[in-house]
Amino acid sequence: MNLDVFTLFPEWFEWFGSQRHVSNAVAGGSRLAYVNMRDHTPLSGGQVDDTPFGGGAGMVLRVDVLDSALRAHYGVDPVELRAQRRVIALAPGGRLLDDALVNELAAEPALTLLCGRYEGFDERILEHFASDVISIGRYVLSGGELAAMVICDAVLRKLPGSLGHAESAAQESFSVALDGHPEYPHYTRPAEYRGWRVPEILLSGHHERIDQWRRERSRERGAEAGPEPGGP
Ligand code: ADE
Repeated sequence: MNLDVFTLFPEWFEWFGSQRHVSNAVAGGSRLAYVNMRDHTPLSGGQVDDTPFGGGAGMVLRVDVLDSALRAHYGVDPVELRAQRRVIALAPGGRLLDDALVNELAAEPALTLLCGRYEGFDERILEHFASDVISIGRYVLSGGELAAMVICDAVLRKLPGSLGHAESAAQESFSVALDGHPEYPHYTRPAEYRGWRVPEILLSGHHERIDQWRRERSRERGAEAGPEPGGP
């Protein structure tokens, strides 16, 4: 998986890149690159954004700046780029990220993530350069960087070798193996703490019954959590 993040704050990603599952994914052949859009601006003084036409608060990322940055990095017209790879703009109003979308993205060979700032993107970036607009939730962050990290994290941990155990990603919350329900509760030693005992079944060594118990708890949690906001 090749992940390119276009950002004004590449240094934010230094910590992220040093996390174990991210460095495992890189050791396993994935590649993460960060492009500072300011390095490619055709405007003087490193300008990348501007005030919105029609008035209003905040600054908007300019379409000409994104055009130069994408063109410089990929060597093609960004209008054509989105036919070659998913180019994802991060914005609060986009398609909501969920496990199905993470799986869809993890199956791609390459992703480009565009981080907006302040008031976000000039709409022409979304119309002409992006293949997708994705939101990590219906709230507004001060930029797309944290959302990009969320996507990189969720996608990379789906790749083989990123997690310690191959099974961990298959049977986790919202997976097909759990019929899309949240994960069942986990317990570890001590078996009893302050009078709080671990469910007896988990100590029984009876794998089929444990499996059934876990599925039931997972289903119950799904019912308690209720439908996903924006879901069917
Ligand atoms: N940029 C600002 N807020 C965002 C959100 N909730 N999801 C994705 N990108 C964003």
